[in-house]
Amino acid sequence: MSIVNDSSAVAELAANFDHWEPEQAAQLHETFRALRDKCPVAYSHKHGGFWVLTRYDHVEEVLKNPADFSSRYTSIPRGMFGDFTILPPIQLDPPAHAMFRKLLVKPFTAQNVQRWEDRVRRDCRKVISRFINEGRVEVSSEYAKFIPLRLMATMLGISADDEGRFASWIHRILEVGATDPDGASAAAGEMQVYLAASIADHRASSRDDIISLLLESEVDGDRLTDEDLLGALFLLILAGMDTTWGMITAAILYMSEHPEDRDRLAADPSLLPVAVEEFVRYYAPVHEGRAATRTLQFNGVTIKEGDPLLVCFGAANRDPAAFDDPETLIIDRKKNRHFGFGVGIHRCLGAHLARLEVRLALEEWLRAIPEFWLAEPEKVRWATGQLWSPKDVVVGFPVSATGGSK
Ligand code: HEM
Repeated sequence: MSIVNDSSAVAELAANFDHWEPEQAAQLHETFRALRDKCPVAYSHKHGGFWVLTRYDHVEEVLKNPADFSSRYTSIPRGMFGDFTILPPIQLDPPAHAMFRKLLVKPFTAQNVQRWEDRVRRDCRKVISRFINEGRVEVSSEYAKFIPLRLMATMLGISADDEGRFASWIHRILEVGATDPDGASAAAGEMQVYLAASIADHRASSRDDIISLLLESEVDGDRLTDEDLLGALFLLILAGMDTTWGMITAAILYMSEHPEDRDRLAADPSLLPVAVEEFVRYYAPVHEGRAATRTLQFNGVTIKEGDPLLVCFGAANRDPAAFDDPETLIIDRKKNRHFGFGVGIHRCLGAHLARLEVRLALEEWLRAIPEFWLAEPEKVRWATGQLWSPKDVVVGFPVSATGGSK
């Protein structure tokens, strides 16, 4: 499929838009550009039909109006884990959403996530030491994945003995779940049983981890039930793992192809916090679903009650109406009001943690491996679905590199 600009071809592109198609995922931003220019409120006939939003102001309008655009169904097509499961708080609308979210906020404040810095650095170094003498590595599965995986296991208080099981559930749900939905459901079920037992354990004796912190969380007399907490832990795992892992991979992929920026960041890590924001703008992985709660007019089209909408945060982030030179990644971009972490009531709860993880993963990588290049460009592919991120990113580096085992 080639991306074209005449109106009838763009209409066809809109009608056939499918974020689950590998060929389309590979040229996602070319499609976004054509839709944003010519058909900004597009209707795709795939998966039973859904609207596709690509303009910055449209995305903002929908996300700031939860009364008309509900978060009950966030996946298109609906319900990877079945529509009976609600993942709080991401699939809750007001007023339930606010009550629930306030109970989860504490562990994720900018100040509270700092306590993980040493742990994340240690994990990065340990993982790098496994391949530092190899001269090449597949970044996604051999480096980036382990940073959020190990941190999440630590935060949840998963014992070293159980880390292998945890890694296997994550693999079955997030890595092969799209092609093996039964395996993903089975893994999700096993993980729920494990987490439910762990919650009961934590009720009996409190520990220094996120489960105890959330069990003890009380705001205005409200507390989380065990069932609430189970749903929330499940969401934290799903929302916090794949996203961060994808961002680390995307940033390393970018640097492997842009040696000047790579060298600047390696020479001056103080540039990293600003660069991380730009990586999140440029490679924003998330597209999230909403459903119209009533029939309404929206920027020239009639959206019917119940219609699903796919809100493309990444497309909004490259809208020329909102950003100068949006298709260029500028590592020291000054003004960057991006939507990579969302906007409105559901904006990312884990954004401070994600920033910390991505920054440290890049800082430790650059310290150990300041020079590297994309070794097998033809292999790189982009994950399909609602989490767009690069896979099979094989980079090479000089074996004389040091620092991984420090
Ligand atoms: C670079 C990594 C990440 C990106 C790009 C990202 C992006 C997003 C986006 C765009 C949303 C809004 C979804 C919506 O409006 O429906 C969101 C929500 C959320 N994220 Fe993240 N996220 C990241 C990492 C994390 C981490 C590390 C955690 C926690 C461990 C986390 C937890 C959440 C939660 C709980 C929500 C739902 C908040 C609510 O509904 O109030 N995320 N994230």
